[in-house]
Amino acid sequence: MGVLVTGATGNLGRVVCEKLRESGHDVRALSRRPQPGQSVRGDLRTGEGIPAAVAGVSTVVHLATAPRGDVEATSRLIAAIGPGDTHLVYTSIVGVDRIPLAYYTAKAECERLIETSGLPFTIQRATQFHTLMLRWFHVQRRIPMPLVFAPRCDFQPIDVHDVADRLVEHIDAGPRERVPDIGGPEVRSARSLAQSYLDMSGRHRRVVGVSLPGRVYSAFHAGDHLTPDHASRGRTFDEFLAERF
Ligand SMILES: NC(=O)c1ccc[n+]([C@@H]2O[C@H](COP(=O)([O-])OP(=O)(O)OC[C@H]3O[C@@H](n4cnc5c(N)ncnc54)[C@H](OP(=O)(O)O)[C@@H]3O)[C@@H](O)[C@H]2O)c1
Repeated sequence: MGVLVTGATGNLGRVVCEKLRESGHDVRALSRRPQPGQSVRGDLRTGEGIPAAVAGVSTVVHLATAPRGDVEATSRLIAAIGPGDTHLVYTSIVGVDRIPLAYYTAKAECERLIETSGLPFTIQRATQFHTLMLRWFHVQRRIPMPLVFAPRCDFQPIDVHDVADRLVEHIDAGPRERVPDIGGPEVRSARSLAQSYLDMSGRHRRVVGVSLPGRVYSAFHAGDHLTPDHASRGRTFDEFLAERF
């Protein structure tokens, strides 16, 4: 029996597929634009290709995401799986029920859909990925001033390899419902992470701390997205950057 991975071409999905294959799983990798090989075409926004993609697998690892439409996509996936004992594994984000960001509120709703689906499930919340932090800082190279802006709050970024290892454990162990959160090995200020990015990438810019109004920023400032008690022992942000630059 195989494992369907939605979001298989994403930052986390690519690594999950690699690790599942290495450990002998029969992997079906879902994409809207499948590559030759073991991938299948499907679109969770329209539902096209999804019934065929889920047919006959024993586990679905749901990693597909988009800025909007995740609730509808998750609902469509659950309907396509149908009643039965397919193990649905979902990756969410630490603090989705505490931080009123629209994307997070949608993820909390996806968790609720999965919990009430009647399917055996595992929900793993993780902190922000190293790849996301890198993208936030890297995109600012286009700012026509020698500055990098960083919010005045902490982050606990994690390597996708560490999240993928945890997901593979869940797939092998079977349904565990909501499991303890996982976070990166260090809690650091965004300003210090931005400085590491500048140092490692050889860019000369000044890091500027910014405070923002509103409940979303307040929740980040309060650390609602952190889980220091569940820090992984994996790759730090600096170790991740050292491999990139
Ligand atoms: N990024 C973070 O810091 C972070 C932290 C904690 C948890 N998470 C969660 O971890 C999961 C994976 O995140 P990620 O950063 O690896 O995602 P990502 O790199 O943004 O990849 C998104 C994936 O979703 C797929 N996708 C988008 N729309 C789709 C659609 N309509 N139908 C089918 N597939 C669709 C894309 O596949 P194609 O383009 O090939 O179709 C792509 O593989 C998400 O649930 C995310 O919320 C992320």
